[in-house]
Amino acid sequence: MSAVLEIQGLEKTYRSRKGVRKALDGFDMVVEAGQVHGFLGPNGSGKTTTLRTLLGLIKPNGGRMSILGREVPQALPEVIGAIGAIVESPQFFANFTAQETLSLLAEAGGVDQARVTEVFELVGLRDRAKDRVKTYSLGMKQRLAVASALLKNPTLLILDEPANGLDPGGIREMRTLMRNLADVGMTVVVSSHILGEIQLICDSVTIISAGRRVAAGTVADVLAQHQAASVRVRVESPGDLAAAADTLREIGAQVVVEPDHLLVSGVAQPGAITRALAAGDVFVSELAPVAVDLESVFLELTGTTPVEGVYRQIDESVTAPATPNGGWGQ
Ligand SMILES: Nc1ncnc2c1ncn2[C@@H]1O[C@H](COP(=O)(O)OP(=O)(O)OP(=O)(O)O)[C@@H](O)[C@H]1O
Ligand SMILES: [Mg+2]
Repeated sequence: MSAVLEIQGLEKTYRSRKGVRKALDGFDMVVEAGQVHGFLGPNGSGKTTTLRTLLGLIKPNGGRMSILGREVPQALPEVIGAIGAIVESPQFFANFTAQETLSLLAEAGGVDQARVTEVFELVGLRDRAKDRVKTYSLGMKQRLAVASALLKNPTLLILDEPANGLDPGGIREMRTLMRNLADVGMTVVVSSHILGEIQLICDSVTIISAGRRVAAGTVADVLAQHQAASVRVRVESPGDLAAAADTLREIGAQVVVEPDHLLVSGVAQPGAITRALAAGDVFVSELAPVAVDLESVFLELTGTTPVEGVYRQIDESVTAPATPNGGWGQ
């Protein structure tokens, strides 16, 4: 596999009359060919800034980037034909029909008109293509945007929050579409907040927090690296839970007592739990590793786990140490 997209040490500082804001602080990212890659991070962490910088829409203050093996922004004119992108909501002329919109874009880009029909079919807008864009719902506009990005059958498709405004059925269709595109060799980079969805479709992910990479790799690897080594323990008689907790603490375990089970960590071998409890005449009815999901890893790594009574403010996510040699994940 080769890297379709590579970013090293990307820096971006916005300067305005209000002051200076460091949006990217030595950000790294690698995306291999043919993958669906999830680009995840809390609001304001730098996702859109990264994508806009990649596409030459804003200038970085440092670092390097390559797309399809060519350094960008210098070589952007050579690779731009192979990139389809929607970064934040694109604007279309409200009075044009969707069909007119894409036909014009196809004409401007030297794309065959037959492809227009094809992309409407792909994004599920076939029967509404003749409607004016101003009559479109948010989700339909989002689909139209994806259709426009697919027109030139790109090698690399970059989608910033494509699930925005889509209903659950639409999200599922978008998921299938991205998977199908990757299966025929397209590389798809998708930023999203809907982590359950990402977990289902992505081969690999990059998690960004406060302008730096905090995790990267396959979904399985990222989960495995952050798998809390805790097990859920149920006992035959729930009345024994408190005593069981005491017994386990005596062998050095950390125990959280829940109404109908214990959460136990700090024990190297689960067998030690069964043995210790059986010795005290308490019998285990369930012993199961607690699975972590991408959402809990994301919340932990970005420091955005909700805390009761605290209204978390934008910019309060966690900053990772800079890793100039790309020491995280892959
Ligand atoms: N044009 C700009 N001028 C000044 N600051 C900006 C500008 N664009 C973005 N920023 C700041 O840079 C930081 C990163 O913003 P960015 O839009 O990249 O975040 P994001 O990860 O895409 O967030 P979201 O999930 O909300 O879309 C934020 O603090 C934002 O306020
Ligand atoms: Mg954004």
